[in-house]
Amino acid sequence: MERPAWAPRSIDISVPSVSRIYDYYLGGSHNFEVDREAARRSMEFLPGLPKIMQANRAFMRRAVRFAAGQGITQFLDVGSGIPTFGNVHEVAQGAVPGARVVYVDHDPVAVAHSQAFLTGNDDADVVAADLRKPREMLASPRLERLIDLNRPVALLLVAILHFVEDADDPYGAVAELRDALAPGSLLILTHASYEGIPVPAERAEGAVDVYKDIRNPLIMRSRDEIARFFEGYDMVEPGLVPMPHWRPESAPQDEDPYAFSGFAGVGRTA
Ligand SMILES: C[S@@+](CC[C@H](N)C(=O)[O-])C[C@H]1O[C@@H](n2cnc3c(N)ncnc32)[C@H](O)[C@@H]1O
Repeated sequence: MERPAWAPRSIDISVPSVSRIYDYYLGGSHNFEVDREAARRSMEFLPGLPKIMQANRAFMRRAVRFAAGQGITQFLDVGSGIPTFGNVHEVAQGAVPGARVVYVDHDPVAVAHSQAFLTGNDDADVVAADLRKPREMLASPRLERLIDLNRPVALLLVAILHFVEDADDPYGAVAELRDALAPGSLLILTHASYEGIPVPAERAEGAVDVYKDIRNPLIMRSRDEIARFFEGYDMVEPGLVPMPHWRPESAPQDEDPYAFSGFAGVGRTA
């Protein structure tokens, strides 16, 4: 298999990756046949997976505009993935010129591609780090250059926590990040769940098994389990809801039933 210029030497391009599978769902071009094959296998069980991803991106953009409207000028997007249409820095800097954005991912392809994409943008950068090691992440010089933790930050954990198993203490990592943030900071979060998926859970499990096979298990959590990530935050209205229900900017249209899979919410630190 030929290695394109954007794929760092360090990665094994014969093994599917979560960020490249996601890129494929969203119609991107930074994926290999192994990624497309895994995506197609998941879609045999959940043909509407791309609709879930589109609803996720649309929520993220609304939440970033909301944060900018609340006066937030610093954005920390953890598990940011491969840049695609309507990235956080484009939305944030479109709303607030000079807004500072730091992307974090542990996937070398996502980091390399983000770096290339951000060339020339002095107010945005990318850090290779792991959500499971929040202290190391926050101590990164690239993060410290742009983000002042003494002022409010919008922390995005969008479609990442369902890749962190309970054994790796996702609740502890989220709490550690919360404690590092200044009052008035926002947590912007989405998470996969069997709740809301328009097919029986047994069928959805087929798609979840594909992620198990590629050794990146997808952890489906209940609404109550997802709500626990907001401990120490006051929920912003309308609370933790299916993605299209979070502050829609236009009158409800004919949303695909898959868009209502999983949950989205925004919390504010007191
Ligand atoms: C489904 S993508 C979501 C991308 C983007 N946040 C969005 O919602 O459009 C999940 C991303 O999280 C990253 N990721 C998963 N576990 C991670 C971890 N422990 N630390 C950092 N990044 C992680 C993956 O590499 C992938 O790029």
